Amino acid sequence: METVETDVLIVGSGPAGASAALALSTYGVPNIVVTRHARLADTPRAHITNQRTMEVLRDLGVEQEVVARATPQHLMGNTVFCTSLAGEELGRLRSWGNDPLVQAAHDLASPSRMCDMPQNWMEPVLVDAAVARGTRLRYSTVYKSFEQDTDGVTVVVEDRLRGDEYAIRAKYLIGADGGRSKVAEDAGLPMGGKMGVAGSVNIVFEADLSRYVAHRPSTLYWVLTPGATVGGIGAGLVRCVRPWNEWLIVWGYDVEGAPPDLTEEYALSVVRQLIGDDDIPVTIRSSSAWTVNEMYAESYSNGRVFCAGDATHRHPPSNGLGSNTSIQDAYNLAWKLKLVLDGAAAPSLLDTYTDERAPVGRQIVTRANKSIGETAPVFDALDLLTPQSPEQLLANMESRKEATPAGEKRRARLREAIDFKRYEFNAHGVELNQRYASAAVVPDGTADPGFDRDPELYHQPSSRPGAKLPHAWLTAGTRTLSTLDLGGGGRFTLLTGIGGEAWVAAARAAGAELGLDIATAVVGPGREYEDPYGDWARLRGIGDTGALLVRPDLYIAFRRADGAADDAEARAVLGTALRRILGRD
Ligand code: FDA
Repeated sequence: METVETDVLIVGSGPAGASAALALSTYGVPNIVVTRHARLADTPRAHITNQRTMEVLRDLGVEQEVVARATPQHLMGNTVFCTSLAGEELGRLRSWGNDPLVQAAHDLASPSRMCDMPQNWMEPVLVDAAVARGTRLRYSTVYKSFEQDTDGVTVVVEDRLRGDEYAIRAKYLIGADGGRSKVAEDAGLPMGGKMGVAGSVNIVFEADLSRYVAHRPSTLYWVLTPGATVGGIGAGLVRCVRPWNEWLIVWGYDVEGAPPDLTEEYALSVVRQLIGDDDIPVTIRSSSAWTVNEMYAESYSNGRVFCAGDATHRHPPSNGLGSNTSIQDAYNLAWKLKLVLDGAAAPSLLDTYTDERAPVGRQIVTRANKSIGETAPVFDALDLLTPQSPEQLLANMESRKEATPAGEKRRARLREAIDFKRYEFNAHGVELNQRYASAAVVPDGTADPGFDRDPELYHQPSSRPGAKLPHAWLTAGTRTLSTLDLGGGGRFTLLTGIGGEAWVAAARAAGAELGLDIATAVVGPGREYEDPYGDWARLRGIGDTGALLVRPDLYIAFRRADGAADDAEARAVLGTALRRILGRD
């Protein structure tokens, strides 16, 4: 059998595989992607793209392309609850950072804006950039099996064009092959949770719905209508794919029974029920059935085989965490593979991938499933959960308009229930508060201060090792740039202030000794970077002479609040920290 060689073989061209390829090619690591189909994603699937993902894409040089194609944040922002699009509106929630207070938090948290980028638009951006930077991509190529030894992994793939099989020999294999991952199964990754919790149907269609949505622009319209509590994701959902002509409906079915027969007639009947206006012309594009899952891998790797994305966490679309987490997994793994392949880090650095990402996977699976349950109180506020005649259901909804104590109580319960959905549609903390604890993070001896406010709703920046580098706007001459722009690019970065020059010299010395390219930045008046607003001084958690060592994925690896006694101490302290992070101590 013919054998092809590469450093990293990636199975799958979804958000996880495509972004792994993009990051590896950006860092100069040879890689091949094999993907089952003759195309990328052909349906919109994941869409909410949060600030952390946009920061990753910013570092990988494709943020502007995504911004140019995505639906902007201000059109995402009214989550509407209604009886149908043409029917009665029950309430709205300012969502995805569009509440003025949350918008301010978004502006403060990141240089990047959240947006809505359908997966079938996102994948080509990632894949095109990856291929332009060196990724070799093979469509119609199916992963069949792998065998690993101490030096590498031999993977058998089937070329569906030629109808034959060949082997690819790689130093590492990434299984980014989605929710039915054969790589994860063959690697024997231990999984917690369960699959098939509820049944769902996606219906993609075209219709000009401007008259029902343009005055309340949103990514999501939730429909409370008979049948909407069966299976699915908590209610009938009309999701905007492209304003205001392309749509995707998510509708549930009872997972104990067979999935519905997805005829055009069935799809049209669901679309008509949720729009509530039979005169609107509708073109059905596709329908597919899927199940809501609640499953996460407890380990993301076995030897030289690593899994990322839905291969390791399977959950409903609530909170929009699917492709975001997948892209962030890949970003966490790519720089570690690069350093290990270069010989700059010991293979043990790769163990930190599971240590850092598995808790995140578990957290987001739990959060996404919890969000489904939190839609029930909206129905309950209107007394729609118990089986009743359609007339009675209608009467219950109408009773919220009554000038009676019962009517007032119903109105209050409905407002509260809708407001509580902030945990799904405005969970800024879920999106940005991840803290890593692993051997690739050097504790600085400070106690974990925890969170001042609800950690799911509110982002709290921190410079404590294991936290994401806080964002602050700096200047360099006439240029304005984020602290995040000082790091990334596959390199470690050392940040210090006036009087911290010993750390800069130490970073250079450690880089030369360990074979690393370490960027350095001194922030202060008259230096290369200035902090005119004083924001960085407030956020950095160190004095002018202290130091932060930032990993290539923009997480803080090491912090020293004050200056070193002298150059020798700075060298010793930073060298020890780096050796520990790289597994070379
Ligand atoms: P993903 O499934 O995207 O990619 C897997 C890749 O592996 C594909 O390229 C596939 O062809 C390839 N592959 C699989 N087996 C292979 C093999 N044996 N050999 C070679 N290649 C193989 N999420 C969300 O947040 N909001 C939403 O509305 C939706 N809606 C939605 C609808 C549908 C129909 C699906 C299937 C999924 C969603 N999702 C979603 C989930 C979201 O799409 C998902 O979280 C991400 O795509 C995960 O990205 P991955 O790259 O991990 O897997």
